[in-house]
Amino acid sequence: MHRIEIENTRQTYLCAAENDLLRGMERLGGKGIPAGCRGGGCGICKVQILTGSWRCGKMSTAVLTPEERRRGIVLACRCYPESGLVLKVIGKMKYRLEKFSDG
Ligand code: FES
Repeated sequence: MHRIEIENTRQTYLCAAENDLLRGMERLGGKGIPAGCRGGGCGICKVQILTGSWRCGKMSTAVLTPEERRRGIVLACRCYPESGLVLKVIGKMKYRLEKFSDG
């Protein structure tokens, strides 16, 4: 299990290496996590990884540019932690997450 911190809200959760980051976020029970495609195609779950290491599955270049990938921006539904991570929610999920979280 890896410890994931959401910089926007200071919430943390544990995520197994074989689970994608979005699934773990959903388990926080936050109302702010919208249902997206969960398949790397809609871009709603975009996050920027600030520290830590990770690996990614297939992500659509229509929603994530090579430049964004270079900056550590990934789709949470297609990203798996390889260490503890600090991430920042930056996609459409950001507003709702911040609005609904207690932190
Ligand atoms: S939920 Fe659609 S890209 Fe992640």
